[in-house]
Amino acid sequence: MTARLLSGKEFAAKFKEDAAKRARAIEAAHGVTPGLAVIIVGEDPASQVYVRNKDRACAELGIYSEVLRMPATTTKAELIAKIDELNYDKRIHGILVQLPLPEALHREEQEILDRIDPAKDVDGFHPVNVGRLSLGQSALVPCTPSGCLKMLELAGIPLDGQRAVIVGRSNIVGKPMAQLLLAKNATVTVCHSHTKDLAAVTREADILVAAVGKPKFITADMVKPGATVIDVGINRIAPKKLVGDVDFDAVQEVAGAITPVPGGVGLLTVAMLMENVVTAAELQLKS
Ligand code: GUN
Repeated sequence: MTARLLSGKEFAAKFKEDAAKRARAIEAAHGVTPGLAVIIVGEDPASQVYVRNKDRACAELGIYSEVLRMPATTTKAELIAKIDELNYDKRIHGILVQLPLPEALHREEQEILDRIDPAKDVDGFHPVNVGRLSLGQSALVPCTPSGCLKMLELAGIPLDGQRAVIVGRSNIVGKPMAQLLLAKNATVTVCHSHTKDLAAVTREADILVAAVGKPKFITADMVKPGATVIDVGINRIAPKKLVGDVDFDAVQEVAGAITPVPGGVGLLTVAMLMENVVTAAELQLKS
């Protein structure tokens, strides 16, 4: 059996179309263009690519966008001053600080993210949004997991009562993904580097989400026949070769549905960011 391919491109195009329509409705009702500010500190090459993709998506959808480039030597105080400026800037409805920050700011990362006005926190990383998500209240939700969930729903994959296993417990993907699947009545297990007999756990999954950051980590023997496999990993194994956390060629013979890398979940992240900017703008203009 070869698995059904869940193409990020197809779903992302639909999500972006929806966001563009809502952006036009905001313009018509309020005469305001939704705006995103992305702060990038330092020269991380992967981050440069991601930020360029976000800027391009804004242009494509008619969303105002500013990219603020700050040197790797930027201090916490300088970064916080910039965030404060954007918190009060009426043209900006969404603020995103691209991660990872340079080494010198790693320990202060959460304090920096906490400075973003929760209403403009389009990454959904602020404790207010994290808390609201875990309470089942409306929130700005991290883009990668919310894109995965929306894709699963649109693809008609059943969630209610299903066993979902997430490999990886990051604040960006693993934890919010668990909250989203739990809210849809899945039975959720979160695995990590200390999990004993990982393969035995993953083999129970009807929905398996891989977010570990290790190339081809999920092998065919770890997957239940017919399971839906969502690969969140983006690992560069050669200058022009990206692979996911799933051994795609082998796993697609076992799985019922699978996302490819590239061309999978990565495209959904940018699309959901656009949606979050539009949602943030709608809420700010309402209040
Ligand atoms: N770096 C990798 N993924 C993300 C993301 O979703 N948001 C931000 N801000 N940085 C990232």
